[in-house]
Amino acid sequence: MQSKILGTGAAIPDGILTNQDIEKIIDTSDEWIRTRSGVVERHISDKDTPSSVLAKEAAEKAMEMAGISADQLDAILVASVTPDHSFPSTACILQDKLGARKITAFDLSAGCTGFIYGVAQADALIRSNNAKFVLVVGVEELTKVTDWTDRSSCFLFGDGAGAAILGPSEDDKSGILATYTASDGSLGGLLYQPAGGSSRPASHYSVDHHMSTILMRGNEVFKHAVRQMEEAALKALELSGVSKEELDWLIPHQANIRIIDFLARRLKLPLDQVVVSIDKHGNTSAASIPLAFDLAVRDGRIKRGQNVVMVAFGAGFTWGSVMIRW
Ligand code: ACO
Repeated sequence: MQSKILGTGAAIPDGILTNQDIEKIIDTSDEWIRTRSGVVERHISDKDTPSSVLAKEAAEKAMEMAGISADQLDAILVASVTPDHSFPSTACILQDKLGARKITAFDLSAGCTGFIYGVAQADALIRSNNAKFVLVVGVEELTKVTDWTDRSSCFLFGDGAGAAILGPSEDDKSGILATYTASDGSLGGLLYQPAGGSSRPASHYSVDHHMSTILMRGNEVFKHAVRQMEEAALKALELSGVSKEELDWLIPHQANIRIIDFLARRLKLPLDQVVVSIDKHGNTSAASIPLAFDLAVRDGRIKRGQNVVMVAFGAGFTWGSVMIRW
């Protein structure tokens, strides 16, 4: 049995932080941020809007498109590095908020590759007959763990949520054609949150010394991201049997426009076949691919029967890809 994506949804908070706003926080310029990263503005949530609120809105839109109700869900997977709490999981909070049955619900942490990991797990649950309908959400509120004194990273991040409903494919015209996930934990120190976990519990010291926020060696991460995203994209082509010529759309993790350009060139895809939303959303980690995907599905760019590859790289390090026929 094959699985397919039946519906997508997205949610972004109302607040917007432009590059001009960032110029007032750190020593930078709109021009530098645009050319180095591609970000023009990002959405920012307020203190009363935790990740589960955005996740619920995205999930409800995805269920509406899929034509299923919350009580039909068999599992809820939430990918996030900024959950409401360490525990309970945001997936459990979402299960309650949606009024779903007492089903499997758990969070997964795979950085910016979280949504890809989630789709791979949902696909496996459906193909092994352990679930019929699975909700996968990628949600982040990275602006709440951003170090606003770090001029080398703070302009990158934004908040948002994207969701997908997966279910069995009734025909062989559309479906998940291949999934691929990988990791290399030896490089974890290049992109991490030093404090707040069991290795260094939150303390006055850790907060005062900016250890509860994102620490990223941007240059190093950039090099690995380029390499692994290309590998993941090629793996999706190999596993699915779809050729470069048959590829219609690339939906890359929205980390940096220069990484996206590189990947498109390697796949021989013109930029008008690449879904780009980094200008509007910034880097929303696990939410970035489902946000971009929902955008392109709803504005009619992605059409039925087209081959779409989604590729991500993130903290861990993790990387992976999903090939679908929409
Ligand atoms: N404004 C102006 N100048 C700046 C800024 C700024 N905000 N920040 C740094 N600079 C300067 C530096 O001081 C440096 O100056 P120098 O050459 O005189 O020393 C110069 O700009 C270049 O700095 P780099 O750090 O080399 O800049 P780079 O071109 O690498 O861009 C960036 C930085 C955008 C962060 C890039 O490295 C990147 O995108 N990295 C990958 C991010 C990514 O893929 N993350 C993956 C997942 S994220 C997640 O999982 C949450």
